[in-house]
Amino acid sequence: MTLIEAREDIQRLSIELERHNRLYYVEGNSDISDRDYDVMFRSLELLEERFPELASPNSPTRRVGGEPIEGFEQREHFLRMLSIDDVFSEEELTDVYQRLQRLLNLNNVKVVIEPKIDGVAVALHYQRGELAFAVTRGDGVAGDDITENVRTIGNVPLRLPDEAPEWLEVRGEVFMRNELFAALNQSREEEGLPTFKNPRNATAGTLKLLNSREVAKRPLDFIAHGMGRLDGVSVESVLDFQHLISGFGIPINSPIWVRDSLSGVLEVVRELGVKRLDLPYETDGAVIKVASREHQQSLGETSRAPRWAAAFKYPPEQKETVIRDITIQVGRTGVLTPVAELDPVLVSGTTVSRATLHNQDEIDRKDVRIGDAVLVEKAGEIIPAVVKVLPEKRGDGSQKYDIHEAVSGKCPSCASEIFRPKGFVAWKCPNPGCPAKSANRIKQFVSRKALDVEGVGNIVAEKLVERGLIHEALDLFSVGMEELAQLNLGTEESPRVLGAKKAENIVTTLARAKTAPLNRWIYALGIPQVGESAARELSRTHERLSQLKRSEILEELKTLKTGERKEDNPLLAPYQIAGEVGPTVARNVGLFFESPEGERALRRLGEIGINPASDNYAPLPAVIAADNPNPFTGKTFVITGTLSSPRSQIKESIQVHGGKVSGSVSQNTDFLLAGEGSGSKLDKAESLGIKVIGEDELEEMQATVGSATLK
Ligand code: IVH
Repeated sequence: MTLIEAREDIQRLSIELERHNRLYYVEGNSDISDRDYDVMFRSLELLEERFPELASPNSPTRRVGGEPIEGFEQREHFLRMLSIDDVFSEEELTDVYQRLQRLLNLNNVKVVIEPKIDGVAVALHYQRGELAFAVTRGDGVAGDDITENVRTIGNVPLRLPDEAPEWLEVRGEVFMRNELFAALNQSREEEGLPTFKNPRNATAGTLKLLNSREVAKRPLDFIAHGMGRLDGVSVESVLDFQHLISGFGIPINSPIWVRDSLSGVLEVVRELGVKRLDLPYETDGAVIKVASREHQQSLGETSRAPRWAAAFKYPPEQKETVIRDITIQVGRTGVLTPVAELDPVLVSGTTVSRATLHNQDEIDRKDVRIGDAVLVEKAGEIIPAVVKVLPEKRGDGSQKYDIHEAVSGKCPSCASEIFRPKGFVAWKCPNPGCPAKSANRIKQFVSRKALDVEGVGNIVAEKLVERGLIHEALDLFSVGMEELAQLNLGTEESPRVLGAKKAENIVTTLARAKTAPLNRWIYALGIPQVGESAARELSRTHERLSQLKRSEILEELKTLKTGERKEDNPLLAPYQIAGEVGPTVARNVGLFFESPEGERALRRLGEIGINPASDNYAPLPAVIAADNPNPFTGKTFVITGTLSSPRSQIKESIQVHGGKVSGSVSQNTDFLLAGEGSGSKLDKAESLGIKVIGEDELEEMQATVGSATLK
């Protein structure tokens, strides 16, 4: 075969494969069998192997991903990638529309209304019809070059037809369909990998993978919603642009409406409020955009968002269902939590069949009974909750529920007699060896915020305890690789072992966890009332885990009377201890280390040779400040808007440098770190005269802190 013939064949096969790809992913009516597709794909692969000089980066064969990369290159946007201002009520939306009428001096402002897809914004750049690169929004000015990852997304065309303009930048949302997201989480759960909270997190996590072959296995989708740089073509409106790109096979948003009056807009927003619930992906609002490019340009933009667009955010959806039963879950600390078992309903795109009822008081207060019709809601990332009972629908068969009575006073996991500690609303299991408690403690121990032991998910944790391989989290360090590999995750009848590869992965991550910083270890131990922030504050004030056992600070904290402030206590004042650590935390830490369980933990750690050390030890902020002025010490930061890295990461880096991070702006805030799309917090900070900084300034501040002060 000559080079010319090969080129022709490669071209023919590529065009044909991409055509089928489009039919399958965009138009949903493929007319070729999987086998025929595979044969064609393989022929192309073989040709490209024989004539590597003819292989294009946009060949359909590249959709399966390529070699892993070290990290993402940064790429600047030609035009800033802005955010949209949110509105939360019809009144606010009315204000927005009336403002457009005023600014444009027009009665009938033509706008486009479409679903706001809850995914990750990406800009696709086509140069002379070829996908040249794809960039995340990043900080709006520059983002990560994720081209390799984007090439694997089935409905993103790699090549456009000949009539494509010289340069075409299409902006849109990468997302995951609800159904595919659920399937992904299920298989991760089975494999012992951490599950994703929601489709958006799964998408963001996937796009950050450095191995595009892994990305290719994840079910990502793309829908275009805006334009960036355009050379060699001009468009007059949003609608023209959509028409242009959909002609090129780029998927566009649907449904979409065009209206030119306030009443029309309000009507559509209400209609979409219902319709969006049937869409196969998560939407969190309606986007309203001025249709005409000329109008858009005359309206312009603020530093964070265009004046020609707004996002109407819908309140969380509530659905009616019936409580079929109430079951009990035994948590890490032995608390018995009642859970409503529901007739499955689709709420905000996912099927809900269980909801927490918290405790007996909550059941009594809401008067929840088995058989009741109830309203359930899934707000954001929180587990579904029962909002209220619909008493008017209560039938004769409804039954009151009492936890103690339902379990005949015994722990459903280990049958120990349950008790209600004084002043406590919950029933608890007293047995330190209760298997349900152990499994849940292990789950916390390995969780992302604790020691982040990849490979030990809920099922693995439960099976390890159930099969008697371990009784407590620290036993994980003594399970042999072979034993782990043989762990049966299935049933006796149909066994399914964990396998050598996963076992090895667990052992490697466990070895790494040994050197995790003190705050993660404190959190991992699962001491009641000691959350992530308290653990961090404890590691700021204590250098080693062993110090927590005989800590002057904690002893003094325990003696504080109600109403007495740490700031007024001469011993405690210099430590400037944050609100997260008070008498309750001090007492719980004390109780833990005095308990047989805590003593065992310390002993086991000693045996394994682990002595967790703080990585943010800075007990006396004032002394340190005088010695070496660290701009973070004793300062409280609030983070808002979209930033270039995940908020959790930025939060951690502020904390590592000695600062504190709080959720809301108040008089006590020292700095507001404002990213793209900062809204009410920014306004509040400005009104309080609080210093507002950007990511650049934060980095500068971090650079001034010498590594010595971090110790
Ligand atoms: S239009 C100036 N349309 O929401 C930005 N954005 O919160 C104009 N988004 O950054 C964007 N669905 O990533 C637009 N139908 C839609 C959208 C949409 C989701 C995202 C987009 C934007 C973010 C702002």
